[in-house]
Amino acid sequence: MVKICCIGAGYVGGPTMAVIALKCPDVEVVVVDISEARIAGWNSDRLPIYEPGLDDVVKRCRGRNLFFSTDVERYVGEADVVFVSVNTPTKTRGLGAGKAADLTYWESAARMIADVSRSDKIVVEKSTVPVKTAEAIEKILAHNGRGVRYQILSNPEFLAEGTAVRDLFAPDRVLIGGRETPEGQAAVKVLKGVYARWVPEDRIITTNLWSAELSKLAANAFLAQRISSVNAISALCEATGADVAEVACSIGKDSRIGPRFLSASVGFGGSCFQKDILNLVYICECYGLPEVAEYWRQVIGINDYQKSRFVNRVVSSMFNTVAGKKVAVLGFAFKKDTGDTRETPAIDVCRGLLGDKAVVSIYDPQVTEEQVRRDLAMRKFDWDHPRHLQPVGEPGDQQPVAVTTDAYEAARDAHAVCILTEWEDFRSLDYRRMYDVMQKPAFVFDGRNIVDPEKLRDIGFIVYAIGKPLDQWLKDMPAVA
Ligand code: NAD
Ligand code: UDX
Repeated sequence: MVKICCIGAGYVGGPTMAVIALKCPDVEVVVVDISEARIAGWNSDRLPIYEPGLDDVVKRCRGRNLFFSTDVERYVGEADVVFVSVNTPTKTRGLGAGKAADLTYWESAARMIADVSRSDKIVVEKSTVPVKTAEAIEKILAHNGRGVRYQILSNPEFLAEGTAVRDLFAPDRVLIGGRETPEGQAAVKVLKGVYARWVPEDRIITTNLWSAELSKLAANAFLAQRISSVNAISALCEATGADVAEVACSIGKDSRIGPRFLSASVGFGGSCFQKDILNLVYICECYGLPEVAEYWRQVIGINDYQKSRFVNRVVSSMFNTVAGKKVAVLGFAFKKDTGDTRETPAIDVCRGLLGDKAVVSIYDPQVTEEQVRRDLAMRKFDWDHPRHLQPVGEPGDQQPVAVTTDAYEAARDAHAVCILTEWEDFRSLDYRRMYDVMQKPAFVFDGRNIVDPEKLRDIGFIVYAIGKPLDQWLKDMPAVA
């Protein structure tokens, strides 16, 4: 039976390996990381990431056939199959800065594999990487290999945060790319054998290496493009009196389009969409395809437009100034059911409000004050580099930002409430209670379309909801894009 080791105990490595361990009780799975804090978290009762259903999976197999360790070299050396699930953030400096994937962590993992391996290994790309990364990795391993033979597979991960366990239990597909040689195909068969324990055979797709690598970037680009498309339409809805929810529902009924992933929002966030599209743009430029690069760049352009459009709407509605005004922000995570704040639209919205001198009061059920302050102080693209490897940034506590443990406290004396994450609890808050403790006129800016604007208007609020018909107040105070 194969022994598995996964390098990188993050949002992907941790849940993915926990599910493999659960579904394959006879396979030993060890997740290793250079971060002692992360590994300590995985070995404790308080896991380092919040993901519904994950505690239960980990509890059922940790100490049985699932282990977490910082002894990277030992467990990589002992494994037959090594998954690499380290970060592949956007480069912050040098060639391709702001676009290209930074493969520093990947390369150092590959060199370490070459250093410690004494037996043949299958190395699995779990991280999202540029097309042709497998070729680069093969070169590193071959030049440092001491006769050990390696097969590289691409097995990109499609889980979404907040639903990771559900996605891993019942994936739409598992994708495995390998070399078309007998050795490559034998390696594909080994990995397929692991997933086949619980994933129906027809959902396990095998391709060549480059198709698998590119499919991951393309899938994220397509998903993000849907959101930018509906968000672009949301701006037109506000200008014309159409309702984006009605439009999305109507177009989603077309079976060729489908209803999912058409919710207009303040903008998409998360560690993947922007980074992977930028990576795709850079690859297109490198292959001399500027028109293709420009096409995908616009998906990010519309996302940035949507975030600044939201900030402009807040400021312009409140007499064109928020200076000294308290603005409550409900939700800081990039989506519900996660504590992850990487590339969350809340960062740009809060910075926009702070730039206009607002006093911002933030509440999120899963995000700590330390994390909020760090995020607001961080330079762009630094967020996806492991914190323990980062220079210590500005503390950010000079900014007029408060972080509360309660939505009502955030709203006390505020002029406006901005809803930036679609937490279920925010649907059922007592908005009358909030209204009573807020300055007047009191505003709600719903960046996730989770409240009923009419009910809130009945309470007395002036309400803006993305892509919904504007009330007279907002029509009288047009936002400059
Ligand atoms: P993460 O930052 O949560 O985890 C990566 C971990 O790798 C960190 O804990 C870091 O300490 C560790 N690490 C870095 N270099 C290392 C080394 N040389 N040796 C040992 N450990 C090392 O990142 P993540 O969100 O899990 O993403 C990992 C990869 O998966 C990325 O390429 C990402 O694009 C991709 N991905 C992410 C998601 C998602 O939803 N987060 C989904 C699909 C794919
Ligand atoms: C995404 C992909 O969905 C997943 O397949 C891939 O493996 C990793 O990247 P994730 O970023 O975790 O997953 O979450 P996702 O559900 O895709 O949401 C991304 C962002 O888009 C969030 O900010 C979310 O709020 C936003 N979104 C999503 C919308 O604004 N509208 C939608 O209709 C859907």
